[in-house]
Amino acid sequence: MNILLTGGTGYIGSHTAAVLAAANHQVVLYDNLCNSQASVADRLQTITGKTLPLVIGDIRNTLLLTDTLKTHQIEAVIHFAGLKAVGDSVRDPVTYFDNNVAGTLSLLQAMQATAVKTLVFSSSATVYGEPQYLPYDEKHPTRAMNPYGRSKLHIEEILADLATAHADWRIACLRYFNPVGAHESGLIGEDPEGIPNNLMPFVARVASGALPRLTIFGNDYETPDGTGVRDYVHVMDLAEGHLAALESLGKGSAPIRYTNLGTGIGVSVLELVQAFKDASGQDIPSVVSDRRPGDLPAYYADATKAKQELGWSATRTLADMCQSTWHFQVCAKQRAN
Ligand code: NAD
Ligand code: UFG
Repeated sequence: MNILLTGGTGYIGSHTAAVLAAANHQVVLYDNLCNSQASVADRLQTITGKTLPLVIGDIRNTLLLTDTLKTHQIEAVIHFAGLKAVGDSVRDPVTYFDNNVAGTLSLLQAMQATAVKTLVFSSSATVYGEPQYLPYDEKHPTRAMNPYGRSKLHIEEILADLATAHADWRIACLRYFNPVGAHESGLIGEDPEGIPNNLMPFVARVASGALPRLTIFGNDYETPDGTGVRDYVHVMDLAEGHLAALESLGKGSAPIRYTNLGTGIGVSVLELVQAFKDASGQDIPSVVSDRRPGDLPAYYADATKAKQELGWSATRTLADMCQSTWHFQVCAKQRAN
């Protein structure tokens, strides 16, 4: 199948590109490079042995998108492109809604103009908001708590209306939990600019000596060891989830479906730090500070629906996630020197 990946040179997009190419799909990358580098396309060529065309452009450029869909005879789109920093979205909501929501509308216009009706959308567990019960299943009420989360929810609502109006569309909204880890090659992974916001890349930088210590945001939560609990999922498992979603869309009769992609296992900050120490053999100094505003104590997925409907479940362990992150960190440091 000819598949367009918006945000294709980003963290999750690039790993998905590797999985799709290995499954003999023809992948076209589309990205404005606001949070990734064109060299990712070259690295994907090294990994897959195939040339993956990269179109440098913005998803709000409907004409360029339409042209790309036509030129490459695209049959399905996986829509990763988006801004994802919660703090930035609070400071500048207009930019977030423009990029994420208006960008998605532009993509949908281009897809309608070219009769491409199969779409996989990168949603987030953040749409569920404050847990009313755990694990979150897909029927859990949605109530996003910040502009970033609301941008995902607005897009899900737009897609639901589209599916109601046009029953021949096939749309999968994948609600990711906490993607971490890297491809085994060490060539692609998560490499944020500046100081990382998220736990795993921060821990990796402390282990490598690039940052002095981890700050643990609170150890007085009502969790087994007092630190925040999340459902970390290996990015290669997540990437395989997209392949499974695409395959299942072809078989299903519902125009839209929502699926959690997580392991179903909650892991605390202290557990993750210990696993990373074991994987890297490095010391990871840490201090405990106050809670980070807006953080939830704990959440994790009910992963039953993904297994039933996509035939997908995560297979990689926390140790795999830490080892691959560490390998990527070491390789990235070697490349920089
Ligand atoms: P990422 O920033 O690494 O990748 C996103 C890519 O989209 C980047 O390469 C960026 O340059 C590109 N992009 C952004 N705006 C664009 C635009 N207007 N036009 C063209 N390209 C644009 O992020 P990621 O972690 O790979 O996330 C991919 C998707 O998954 C995002 O939509 C994100 O919101 C969602 N998601 C991520 C997480 C996570 O923790 N990483 C969790 C849940 C959902
Ligand atoms: N944490 C620390 N120190 C740090 C960073 C994080 O103790 O330096 C803790 C947090 O308090 C939390 C846990 O580590 O308990 C995980 O935090 P992350 O920032 O890695 O992940 P979040 O679950 O807070 O948020 C992520 C994405 C959001 C997305 C959400 C749900 O960053 O964009 O998952 O998908 F909305």
